[in-house]
Amino acid sequence: MPMVGATPVISTEEVGARLRQAVHAKAVNFHAMYSSVLGGIVTDPAYMVLPLDDHMVHRGHAVFDTAMIVNGQLYQVDAHIERLLRSTEMARLQLPYAPAQLRQIIIDTAAASRQRNASVRYWVSAGPGGFGLGPGECVTSSFYVMIFTAPPEPERSYAEGLKVITSTIPIKPPFFARVKSTNYLPNVLVVMEAKDHGADNGVFIDHRGLVGESSNMNVACVTKDGVLRHPAFDAILSGITVQRVLQLAEQLVAQGDLRAIRVADLSVAEARDAAEMLILGSSIKVAPIVQWDGQPIGDGQPGPIARKLLALWRADTTASDQLIPVPYPTD
Ligand SMILES: Cc1ncc(COP(=O)(O)O)c(C=O)c1O
Repeated sequence: MPMVGATPVISTEEVGARLRQAVHAKAVNFHAMYSSVLGGIVTDPAYMVLPLDDHMVHRGHAVFDTAMIVNGQLYQVDAHIERLLRSTEMARLQLPYAPAQLRQIIIDTAAASRQRNASVRYWVSAGPGGFGLGPGECVTSSFYVMIFTAPPEPERSYAEGLKVITSTIPIKPPFFARVKSTNYLPNVLVVMEAKDHGADNGVFIDHRGLVGESSNMNVACVTKDGVLRHPAFDAILSGITVQRVLQLAEQLVAQGDLRAIRVADLSVAEARDAAEMLILGSSIKVAPIVQWDGQPIGDGQPGPIARKLLALWRADTTASDQLIPVPYPTD
Protein backbone atom coordinates (compact mmCIF):
# COMPACT_ATOMS: atom_id res chain seq x y z
CA MET A 1 0.00 0.00 0.00
CA PRO A 2 1.39 3.45 -0.89
CA MET A 3 2.28 5.69 2.04
CA VAL A 4 2.58 9.41 2.53
CA GLY A 5 4.95 9.73 5.44
CA ALA A 6 3.67 7.22 7.97
CA THR A 7 0.07 7.27 6.68
CA PRO A 8 -1.37 4.82 4.14
CA VAL A 9 -3.12 6.19 1.07
CA ILE A 10 -6.11 3.92 0.54
CA SER A 11 -7.17 3.04 -2.98
CA THR A 12 -10.78 3.20 -4.14
CA GLU A 13 -10.75 -0.62 -4.45
CA GLU A 14 -9.58 -0.96 -0.84
CA VAL A 15 -12.13 1.43 0.70
CA GLY A 16 -15.03 -1.06 0.77
CA ALA A 17 -12.96 -3.59 2.73
CA ARG A 18 -11.76 -0.87 5.11
CA LEU A 19 -15.31 0.32 5.74
CA ARG A 20 -16.29 -3.27 6.51
CA GLN A 21 -13.36 -3.65 8.93
CA ALA A 22 -14.43 -0.46 10.68
CA VAL A 23 -17.85 -1.92 11.59
CA HIS A 24 -17.75 -2.27 15.36
CA ALA A 25 -19.62 -4.67 17.63
CA LYS A 26 -22.32 -2.10 18.50
CA ALA A 27 -23.32 -1.76 14.85
CA VAL A 28 -25.56 -4.82 15.36
CA ASN A 29 -28.00 -2.19 16.68
CA PHE A 30 -28.07 -0.29 13.37
CA HIS A 31 -30.68 -1.87 11.17
CA ALA A 32 -31.36 0.35 8.15
CA MET A 33 -30.35 3.74 6.85
CA TYR A 34 -31.84 5.88 4.12
CA SER A 35 -29.50 8.39 2.53
CA SER A 36 -30.59 10.94 -0.06
CA VAL A 37 -26.95 11.00 -1.14
CA LEU A 38 -27.14 7.30 -2.02
CA GLY A 39 -30.74 7.65 -3.15
CA GLY A 40 -31.96 4.63 -1.20
CA ILE A 41 -31.80 2.37 1.85
CA VAL A 42 -28.78 0.38 3.03
CA THR A 43 -28.89 -2.32 5.68
CA ASP A 44 -25.15 -2.98 5.84
CA PRO A 45 -23.71 -0.80 8.64
CA ALA A 46 -20.46 -0.50 6.67
CA TYR A 47 -22.24 1.88 4.31
CA MET A 48 -24.16 3.92 6.87
CA VAL A 49 -21.86 6.87 6.31
CA LEU A 50 -22.11 10.60 5.56
CA PRO A 51 -20.07 12.82 3.27
CA LEU A 52 -17.81 15.05 5.37
CA ASP A 53 -18.73 18.07 3.24
CA ASP A 54 -22.37 17.80 4.33
CA HIS A 55 -22.95 20.99 6.33
CA MET A 56 -24.63 18.87 9.02
CA VAL A 57 -21.22 17.40 9.81
CA HIS A 58 -18.96 20.45 9.89
CA ARG A 59 -21.41 23.31 10.62
CA GLY A 60 -24.31 21.67 12.40
CA HIS A 61 -26.69 23.24 9.89
CA ALA A 62 -29.25 20.46 10.21
CA VAL A 63 -32.28 19.45 12.24
CA PHE A 64 -33.55 16.07 13.33
CA ASP A 65 -36.26 14.22 15.17
CA THR A 66 -36.76 10.79 16.68
CA ALA A 67 -39.90 8.66 16.67
CA MET A 68 -40.34 5.05 17.74
CA ILE A 69 -41.49 1.73 16.37
CA VAL A 70 -43.46 0.09 19.18
CA ASN A 71 -44.65 -3.50 18.66
CA GLY A 72 -44.48 -3.18 14.89
CA GLN A 73 -46.24 0.19 14.68
CA LEU A 74 -44.90 3.72 14.27
CA TYR A 75 -46.03 5.75 17.27
CA GLN A 76 -46.82 9.45 16.83
CA VAL A 77 -44.72 9.67 13.68
CA ASP A 78 -46.85 12.48 12.25
CA ALA A 79 -46.37 14.64 15.34
CA HIS A 80 -42.61 14.00 15.13
CA ILE A 81 -42.59 14.88 11.41
CA GLU A 82 -44.53 18.10 12.10
CA ARG A 83 -41.91 19.10 14.66
CA LEU A 84 -39.16 18.30 12.14
CA LEU A 85 -40.86 20.59 9.63
CA ARG A 86 -41.09 23.39 12.23
CA SER A 87 -37.38 22.94 13.05
CA THR A 88 -36.54 22.96 9.34
CA GLU A 89 -38.25 26.34 8.90
CA MET A 90 -36.59 27.84 11.96
CA ALA A 91 -33.17 26.65 10.74
CA ARG A 92 -33.96 28.04 7.25
CA LEU A 93 -33.34 24.69 5.59
CA GLN A 94 -34.83 23.66 2.25
CA LEU A 95 -36.65 20.35 2.23
CA PRO A 96 -35.05 17.95 -0.27
CA TYR A 97 -38.46 16.31 -0.89
CA ALA A 98 -42.10 17.17 -0.22
CA PRO A 99 -43.27 16.30 3.33
CA ALA A 100 -45.39 13.36 2.10
CA GLN A 101 -42.31 11.86 0.45
CA LEU A 102 -40.20 12.33 3.58
CA ARG A 103 -42.91 10.53 5.52
CA GLN A 104 -43.01 7.66 3.01
CA ILE A 105 -39.21 7.27 3.14
CA ILE A 106 -39.36 7.10 6.95
CA ILE A 107 -42.03 4.38 6.79
CA ASP A 108 -40.13 2.46 4.09
CA THR A 109 -36.86 2.59 6.03
CA ALA A 110 -38.69 1.36 9.15
CA ALA A 111 -40.09 -1.51 7.08
CA ALA A 112 -36.68 -2.37 5.58
CA SER A 113 -35.23 -2.60 9.10
CA ARG A 114 -37.68 -5.44 9.93
CA GLN A 115 -37.52 -4.28 13.55
CA ARG A 116 -40.67 -4.39 15.69
CA ASN A 117 -39.25 -2.17 18.43
CA ALA A 118 -36.68 0.47 17.52
CA SER A 119 -35.86 4.15 17.33
CA VAL A 120 -36.45 6.03 14.09
CA ARG A 121 -34.24 9.11 13.74
CA TYR A 122 -34.16 11.34 10.70
CA TRP A 123 -32.30 14.47 9.70
CA VAL A 124 -32.74 17.29 7.18
CA SER A 125 -29.43 18.97 6.42
CA ALA A 126 -28.24 21.88 4.29
CA GLY A 127 -26.40 19.12 2.43
CA PRO A 128 -23.00 18.56 0.82
CA GLY A 129 -21.18 21.08 -1.36
CA GLY A 130 -18.09 22.36 0.44
CA PHE A 131 -16.62 23.47 3.73
CA GLY A 132 -17.95 27.02 3.85
CA LEU A 133 -20.58 28.37 6.19
CA GLY A 134 -23.58 29.45 4.17
CA PRO A 135 -25.81 26.91 2.42
CA GLY A 136 -25.41 28.69 -0.93
CA GLU A 137 -22.63 26.29 -1.89
CA CYS A 138 -24.63 23.16 -1.05
CA VAL A 139 -25.63 21.18 -4.12
CA THR A 140 -28.90 20.05 -2.56
CA SER A 141 -30.23 19.60 0.93
CA SER A 142 -29.99 16.07 2.26
CA PHE A 143 -32.21 13.67 4.17
CA TYR A 144 -31.11 10.71 6.24
CA VAL A 145 -33.08 8.16 8.25
CA MET A 146 -31.61 5.67 10.71
CA ILE A 147 -33.44 2.79 12.36
CA PHE A 148 -31.54 1.66 15.44
CA THR A 149 -32.04 -0.12 18.71
CA ALA A 150 -31.11 1.84 21.81
CA PRO A 151 -30.43 0.07 25.11
CA PRO A 152 -33.74 -0.19 26.96
CA GLU A 153 -34.31 2.03 29.99
CA PRO A 154 -33.57 -0.16 33.04
CA GLU A 155 -36.69 -1.29 34.91
CA ARG A 156 -35.32 0.25 38.11
CA SER A 157 -35.72 3.73 36.62
CA TYR A 158 -39.47 3.19 36.95
CA ALA A 159 -39.45 0.99 40.07
CA GLU A 160 -36.98 3.09 42.11
CA GLY A 161 -37.05 6.46 40.34
CA LEU A 162 -34.31 8.75 39.08
CA LYS A 163 -31.99 11.25 40.71
CA VAL A 164 -31.36 14.64 39.13
CA ILE A 165 -29.15 17.60 39.86
CA THR A 166 -29.46 21.24 38.88
CA SER A 167 -27.23 21.66 35.88
CA THR A 168 -24.53 24.30 35.80
CA ILE A 169 -24.49 23.99 31.98
CA PRO A 170 -26.20 27.00 30.42
CA ILE A 171 -29.49 26.17 28.72
CA LYS A 172 -29.79 27.12 25.05
CA PRO A 173 -31.37 30.55 24.50
CA PRO A 174 -35.14 30.16 23.88
CA PHE A 175 -34.98 30.27 20.06
CA PHE A 176 -32.30 27.55 19.91
CA ALA A 177 -34.01 25.46 22.59
CA ARG A 178 -37.11 25.35 20.40
CA VAL A 179 -35.30 24.18 17.24
CA LYS A 180 -34.28 20.54 17.30
CA SER A 181 -30.96 21.20 15.62
CA THR A 182 -27.98 18.86 15.61
CA ASN A 183 -26.21 21.07 18.17
CA TYR A 184 -26.63 18.94 21.27
CA LEU A 185 -23.45 19.94 23.09
CA PRO A 186 -25.27 21.42 26.12
CA ASN A 187 -27.53 18.35 26.21
CA VAL A 188 -24.55 15.98 26.22
CA LEU A 189 -22.75 18.00 28.90
CA VAL A 190 -25.80 18.09 31.18
CA VAL A 191 -25.89 14.28 31.31
CA MET A 192 -22.12 14.00 31.77
CA GLU A 193 -22.22 16.47 34.65
CA ALA A 194 -25.07 14.55 36.29
CA LYS A 195 -23.21 11.22 36.00
CA ASP A 196 -20.08 12.87 37.49
CA HIS A 197 -22.22 13.64 40.54
CA GLY A 198 -23.77 10.17 40.80
CA ALA A 199 -27.11 11.36 39.42
CA ASP A 200 -29.05 10.13 36.40
CA ASN A 201 -29.69 13.44 34.70
CA GLY A 202 -29.68 17.20 35.11
CA VAL A 203 -32.32 19.91 35.09
CA PHE A 204 -31.62 22.98 32.98
CA ILE A 205 -32.69 26.21 34.64
CA ASP A 206 -33.75 28.82 32.12
CA HIS A 207 -32.55 32.41 31.69
CA ARG A 208 -35.21 33.63 34.17
CA GLY A 209 -34.21 31.09 36.85
CA LEU A 210 -37.24 28.88 36.13
CA VAL A 211 -37.39 25.11 35.57
CA GLY A 212 -36.54 24.38 31.92
CA GLU A 213 -36.08 20.81 30.77
CA SER A 214 -33.64 17.92 31.01
CA SER A 215 -31.04 16.56 28.58
CA ASN A 216 -33.37 15.14 25.94
CA MET A 217 -36.47 14.98 28.08
CA ASN A 218 -39.02 17.29 29.60
CA VAL A 219 -39.68 17.63 33.32
CA ALA A 220 -43.00 18.08 35.08
CA CYS A 221 -44.30 17.82 38.63
CA VAL A 222 -47.43 17.09 40.62
CA THR A 223 -48.13 19.59 43.38
CA LYS A 224 -49.19 18.46 46.84
CA ASP A 225 -52.71 19.63 46.04
CA GLY A 226 -52.91 17.45 42.92
CA VAL A 227 -52.09 19.76 40.02
CA LEU A 228 -49.97 18.37 37.16
CA ARG A 229 -47.56 21.20 36.35
CA HIS A 230 -45.37 21.66 33.32
CA PRO A 231 -43.29 24.69 32.32
CA ALA A 232 -44.53 26.84 29.43
CA PHE A 233 -43.05 25.78 26.09
CA ASP A 234 -41.58 29.15 25.08
CA ALA A 235 -37.97 28.47 26.17
CA ILE A 236 -37.72 24.68 25.84
CA LEU A 237 -38.35 21.99 23.25
CA SER A 238 -41.97 21.05 22.81
CA GLY A 239 -41.70 17.35 23.65
CA ILE A 240 -44.02 15.13 21.67
CA THR A 241 -44.24 12.72 24.62
CA VAL A 242 -45.17 15.33 27.19
CA GLN A 243 -47.72 16.94 24.86
CA ARG A 244 -49.42 13.57 24.48
CA VAL A 245 -49.13 12.78 28.19
CA LEU A 246 -50.76 16.13 29.03
CA GLN A 247 -53.71 15.03 26.86
CA LEU A 248 -53.81 11.55 28.42
CA ALA A 249 -53.66 13.09 31.91
CA GLU A 250 -57.15 14.54 31.35
CA GLN A 251 -58.37 11.01 32.16
CA LEU A 252 -56.74 11.27 35.58
CA VAL A 253 -58.51 14.59 36.13
CA ALA A 254 -61.82 12.99 35.11
CA GLN A 255 -61.35 10.11 37.57
CA GLY A 256 -60.26 12.40 40.41
CA ASP A 257 -56.58 11.37 40.61
CA LEU A 258 -55.56 14.90 39.59
CA ARG A 259 -57.31 18.17 40.39
CA ALA A 260 -56.05 20.07 37.32
CA ILE A 261 -53.35 20.35 34.65
CA ARG A 262 -51.47 23.62 34.32
CA VAL A 263 -48.82 24.54 31.73
CA ALA A 264 -47.19 27.79 32.84
CA ASP A 265 -43.88 29.08 34.21
CA LEU A 266 -42.65 26.71 36.90
CA SER A 267 -40.41 28.02 39.68
CA VAL A 268 -37.66 25.89 41.17
CA ALA A 269 -39.24 26.32 44.62
CA GLU A 270 -42.61 24.99 43.41
CA ALA A 271 -40.98 21.97 41.76
CA ARG A 272 -38.81 21.16 44.78
CA ASP A 273 -41.90 21.25 46.98
CA ALA A 274 -43.88 18.90 44.70
CA ALA A 275 -45.42 15.59 45.73
CA GLU A 276 -44.01 13.99 42.56
CA MET A 277 -41.64 14.94 39.81
CA LEU A 278 -41.62 13.34 36.36
CA ILE A 279 -39.22 13.09 33.46
CA LEU A 280 -40.70 12.47 30.01
CA GLY A 281 -39.43 11.79 26.51
CA SER A 282 -39.61 9.35 23.62
CA SER A 283 -36.75 7.29 25.05
CA ILE A 284 -37.70 7.20 28.75
CA LYS A 285 -41.51 7.54 28.33
CA VAL A 286 -42.66 8.67 31.82
CA ALA A 287 -40.38 8.02 34.78
CA PRO A 288 -40.46 9.31 38.36
CA ILE A 289 -37.76 11.64 39.74
CA VAL A 290 -37.33 10.86 43.44
CA GLN A 291 -34.37 13.05 44.34
CA TRP A 292 -33.15 16.50 43.26
CA ASP A 293 -29.79 17.82 44.41
CA GLY A 294 -29.70 15.15 47.12
CA GLN A 295 -33.12 16.13 48.55
CA PRO A 296 -36.13 13.82 48.28
CA ILE A 297 -39.06 14.84 46.12
CA GLY A 298 -42.25 14.14 48.08
CA ASP A 299 -41.62 11.01 50.14
CA GLY A 300 -38.62 10.07 48.00
CA GLN A 301 -40.49 7.17 46.37
CA PRO A 302 -42.02 6.82 42.89
CA GLY A 303 -45.54 8.20 43.09
CA PRO A 304 -48.93 7.07 41.82
CA ILE A 305 -49.32 9.71 39.10
CA ALA A 306 -46.03 8.71 37.44
CA ARG A 307 -47.20 5.10 37.48
CA LYS A 308 -50.64 5.91 36.10
CA LEU A 309 -49.30 8.17 33.36
CA LEU A 310 -46.84 5.47 32.28
CA ALA A 311 -49.72 2.97 32.12
CA LEU A 312 -51.77 5.43 30.02
CA TRP A 313 -48.76 5.95 27.72
CA ARG A 314 -48.34 2.16 27.35
CA ALA A 315 -52.01 1.73 26.52
CA ASP A 316 -51.73 4.54 23.97
CA THR A 317 -48.90 2.69 22.20
CA THR A 318 -51.04 -0.44 22.01
CA ALA A 319 -54.30 0.97 20.70
CA SER A 320 -54.86 4.58 19.70
CA ASP A 321 -55.13 6.87 16.71
CA GLN A 322 -51.40 7.63 17.11
CA LEU A 323 -50.26 4.35 15.49
CA ILE A 324 -49.37 3.47 11.90
CA PRO A 325 -48.61 -0.20 11.08
CA VAL A 326 -45.16 -0.68 9.54
CA PRO A 327 -45.57 -2.41 6.14
CA TYR A 328 -42.81 -5.00 6.65
CA PRO A 329 -41.63 -7.02 3.66
CA THR A 330 -43.23 -10.46 3.65
CA ASP A 331 -40.26 -12.44 2.28
C1 LIG B 1 -34.01 19.02 24.58
C2 LIG B 1 -35.15 18.07 24.56
N1 LIG B 1 -36.22 18.27 25.36
C3 LIG B 1 -37.26 17.41 25.37
C4 LIG B 1 -37.28 16.29 24.57
C5 LIG B 1 -38.44 15.35 24.61
O1 LIG B 1 -39.07 15.28 23.38
P1 LIG B 1 -39.81 13.96 22.88
O2 LIG B 1 -40.87 13.69 23.87
O3 LIG B 1 -40.35 14.34 21.58
O4 LIG B 1 -38.82 12.87 22.84
C6 LIG B 1 -36.19 16.04 23.72
C7 LIG B 1 -36.17 14.88 22.83
O5 LIG B 1 -36.41 14.98 21.66
C8 LIG B 1 -35.11 16.95 23.71
O6 LIG B 1 -34.05 16.73 22.91
